[in-house]
Amino acid sequence: MQAFGEPGAMVYLADCVDFMKIIPSGSVDMVFADPPYRLSRGGVTVKYGRLAPVDKGSWDRSMGFAGDHRFNVRWLKEACRILKPEGTIWVTGTHHIIFSLGFALQTMQLKLINQITWAKPDPPPNALHTAFTHAHETLLWASKGRGARHTFNYDLINSRDPTAQVSSVWSIPSVPKREKLHGYHPTQKPLRLVRRAILASTREGDLVFDPFCGSGTTGVAAKELGRFFVGAEKEEEYAELAELRIGAAERGGVLRELSDLGAKDD
Ligand SMILES: C[S@@+](CC[C@H](N)C(=O)[O-])C[C@H]1O[C@@H](n2cnc3c(N)ncnc32)[C@H](O)[C@@H]1O
Repeated sequence: MQAFGEPGAMVYLADCVDFMKIIPSGSVDMVFADPPYRLSRGGVTVKYGRLAPVDKGSWDRSMGFAGDHRFNVRWLKEACRILKPEGTIWVTGTHHIIFSLGFALQTMQLKLINQITWAKPDPPPNALHTAFTHAHETLLWASKGRGARHTFNYDLINSRDPTAQVSSVWSIPSVPKREKLHGYHPTQKPLRLVRRAILASTREGDLVFDPFCGSGTTGVAAKELGRFFVGAEKEEEYAELAELRIGAAERGGVLRELSDLGAKDD
């Protein structure tokens, strides 16, 4: 199997379900998964002021409602198996798949800790003027079940002011240009978003796994925060992009910034 990245932050060119089968049960502290949203189904969007087809790639095509749900159940089962008993899983999505993901998690007896709304201050306009502008995505954060003591670094995420707790609505702009210097991925996530999830729910030295690694945002955030990282990605061009981005990141770099800032994550 082809491997990209570096010791401590590796990306494997593989189908994530096959790959997870070789990971021992109970060995991962946190899974961050940004799976295909199955948006590429003939719709249109606005790009650079013009109508454009929504086509992220063959990996994003819908297999029909039942097929998409079966796939979600397959990869989620493996992801939960490899999680430590105290580990947690984050999954992202829009209305196209988030209900399937949430239903699968609850069916598997996972406990939803939070439903985060990622509010986008800069969304693309609704192309056909037939609906409200889609201006958010959802992140589900779940633990392995009742009684499991998950990590939540309250003091790292919140300021000392008890009336100013960080809520489940995160307003974070889309990916800035400086995060796209190494190449293009159609659904790259902003580092600020993934950093906050990792900072909140893992400790330094923990192992983070991303089954749908894409351009490597989770790997970059994990490395910057002094966590170990393993990812799976089935498209070679994205695994190569992830390697470039991970290589350019400074191990522990954000941890140092955080201690200078007095533990504030953005
Ligand atoms: C939504 S994107 C993830 C983007 C990533 N979070 C980032 O910031 O760049 C999903 C990625 O999963 C990959 N993918 C789709 N199906 C996969 C599978 N079965 N196994 C591994 N990777 C897969 C796609 O090629 C795509 O790069």
